[in-house]
Amino acid sequence: MPHSPAPFPAARLRRMRASAALRDLAQENRLTVKDFIWPVFVRDGENMEEPIASMPGVNRLSVDRVVAAAERAAGLGIPAICLFPYTDPALKTSDCAEAWNPENLTNRAIRAIKAGVPEIAVMTDIALDPYSVDGHDGFVVDGEIVNDETVEALVKMALAQAEAGADILGPSDMMDGRIGAIRTALEAGGHRNVTIMSYAAKYASAFYGPFRDAVGASGALKGDKKTYQMNPGNSDEALRLVARDLDEGADMVMVKPGMPYLDICRRVKDTFGVPTYAYQVSGEYAMLRGAALNGWVDGERVMMESLLAFKRAGCDGILTYFAPEAAALMGPAA
Ligand code: PBG
Repeated sequence: MPHSPAPFPAARLRRMRASAALRDLAQENRLTVKDFIWPVFVRDGENMEEPIASMPGVNRLSVDRVVAAAERAAGLGIPAICLFPYTDPALKTSDCAEAWNPENLTNRAIRAIKAGVPEIAVMTDIALDPYSVDGHDGFVVDGEIVNDETVEALVKMALAQAEAGADILGPSDMMDGRIGAIRTALEAGGHRNVTIMSYAAKYASAFYGPFRDAVGASGALKGDKKTYQMNPGNSDEALRLVARDLDEGADMVMVKPGMPYLDICRRVKDTFGVPTYAYQVSGEYAMLRGAALNGWVDGERVMMESLLAFKRAGCDGILTYFAPEAAALMGPAA
C-alpha cells in the first residue's frame, strides 16, 4: 500500500517535483530503446521505399532496404524488428499457399536480415490476411472463418518462418488452439529455441485501418473480424486468453491495440507476471502523427509520453512504428 502522507505542511508532495534532478530521482518508470520492437512493411523489388498515405513517415521497403533498416535499428540499440509483407495481389488466393512458401517476401527478408544483421531479433506475423483474397486471418468457407483448417495452415507458415531463421513468431490470427499446434510442430521440427509472442488479447479494432492499407488488405476484406478478434467491451476474457496461450506454450503475450487498452496490460501483468507487450497500432500512430503534422500537438512529446505510458501500465516492451525516431531521440541505452 502507498504510504499515506503526513498532514500539510509536513508533507508537501510538490517538494519532489521542484527540480528536474528530484523528478528524475523519483521517477518510477522509464523507457529505453531496449523496450522497442519495430514493425516494418516489406514489398517486392529493389531499392524501393514507398510511402503509405495513412501512415505518414512509414514506408514499404524492398528487402535490401529492410536490411538497411535493420542495420540502422541495431545501431540505435533496438533489439527486434517485426516484418509485415505487402503481397502482390496476383499472389493472393483462397488457399493462401503463398503464406508458407519458403521464398515468400517475409521468409526472404528474414534470411537477408539474419545474414546481414544477425544481432537483431526478427519477429514475424502469423495470419493469412496478407495472402487471402478474402482479407481474413483464416480460411473462409461458406462465409465462416474456419478454425481448425486455418490452424493447420498457420503451422505450415510458422515452420517456414522458423526455418528461414525467425527468432520470435507472432501468431496474430486469434484462432483457438494455434499456440499449442505451433509449439508442438516447432519442438518436433527441432526449433526448440524459437520463441512465440502470442497476440493473446487482440481486439476487433477500428485502429487497424491504416495497417490494412499498408499490407494491401483493406480492399480485400469482406465483412469484419468480430468472430475471432475480441469484443472491445471485454476484460476478463483477455485473462482467459492469456492463460490459455501460456498453457499452450507462448513465451510472451501481447495486448493489442495499445493505448485504448492499457487497463488490459496492467491486469495481464499483475495476474501472470510474464513477459507482456503492447502493440501501439497503426491507427494510434496515425492519430498522433496526423495531429503533430497539423501542429495541433507537440509530436515528439506525445510520442514519448504515449510510449512511457506502456511502461507504467506494466509492459515489458512495445511494438511501435515510432521505434527508430524515439530511439534516436533517446540516444543509446546503457
Ligand atoms: C493481421 C494483423 C493486423 C495487425 C497486425 N497483424 C491487422 C488485423 O488484424 O486486421 C494490425 C497492426 C496495426 O494496426 O498496426 N493479422
